[in-house]
Amino acid sequence: MKKILVSGGAGYIGSHTVRALSEVGYGPVVLDSLITGHREAVPGNIPFYLGNIADEDLVSDIIMKEKVSAVIHFAARSLVGESVQKPDLYFEENTAKTHRFVSTVLQCGVNNIVFSSTAATYGNPEKVPIPEESKTEPINPYGASKLMIEQSFYWLEQAYGLKWIALRYFNAAGAALDGSLGEDHATETHLIPLVLKTALGQREAISIFGTDYDTLDGTCIRDYIHVLDLAEAHIRALEALEQGVPCGAYNVGTGTGYSVREVIAMARRVTGIDIPVLEAPRREGDPDSLVAKVGKIQKILGWQARYSDLETIIKSAWQWHQKHPHGYGI
Ligand code: UFG
Repeated sequence: MKKILVSGGAGYIGSHTVRALSEVGYGPVVLDSLITGHREAVPGNIPFYLGNIADEDLVSDIIMKEKVSAVIHFAARSLVGESVQKPDLYFEENTAKTHRFVSTVLQCGVNNIVFSSTAATYGNPEKVPIPEESKTEPINPYGASKLMIEQSFYWLEQAYGLKWIALRYFNAAGAALDGSLGEDHATETHLIPLVLKTALGQREAISIFGTDYDTLDGTCIRDYIHVLDLAEAHIRALEALEQGVPCGAYNVGTGTGYSVREVIAMARRVTGIDIPVLEAPRREGDPDSLVAKVGKIQKILGWQARYSDLETIIKSAWQWHQKHPHGYGI
């Protein structure tokens, strides 16, 4: 059984990927600091190490003891707004610590890494759908912190033979179909969980940030990708690295965008609740429209979204929120 070290395996996307890895016969090993992750999101039979990715002794001990053959690296801070307030935190936690982590991984003789990147590397796109070869000019430190890692990987590849795939996620959403794993952030900023928390009566209304965008209904358009499809993309990327595909960045999205109003309308339909809405000013830094061009990942990794229609995304998330109205541990 191939052992895969999953950093951040107790987080939202990490925990779904850990489950998917087990299901297809890999042996995931989780390293998580539990600063934002949840111990409950990782089953008891999966090896779990509490600690930091920059702890070189811990990381090399895990790799040796567990005989790790590849790494999927999720562990990171991921709040765009926080990154603008505290850029130093993001360059330390995301960029610097990842660099130390990857250096240790390489020193231990493990060369294959799948990395959790973001559409935030593009900034305000020149054209939509966004192809991977678009210019990368992040408009916040979060995107910059991830882009710097991608760039460092290129040079580590040239010098030491690092084999890497960076998956640039669009808007991760949804939950395990049985409602057993889902999104639980101490500070929730994302649209779908906030809409559903409003449906549960935990918030008075969902604010629509901006109704005067240059889109059909005036609200922002995003490409929502089901977390199960994201998990599958990591497995395809691992397999592709083993087969020697060229290293690089791949978009993970559906190629279809939905507006904020369309998301709210679907949430009303799925929940049967007339979710109250408040029209609010634009949120700083939100581009009109972010939709992935997905030909590259389909062609080279053979990946296709299976669960990412808006209804399945919102139904699965609604199951999770109903079963766990206050997240894990409740
Ligand atoms: N929105 C609202 N009301 C809310 C929350 C969000 O109207 O209460 C809107 C936003 O303005 C945006 C859309 O819903 O237009 C989606 O917002 P999210 O916060 O859910 O997601 P973002 O598109 O801002 O963020 C995503 C990823 C980030 C990534 C970013 C790239 O979650 O990790 O795309 O721009 F960095």
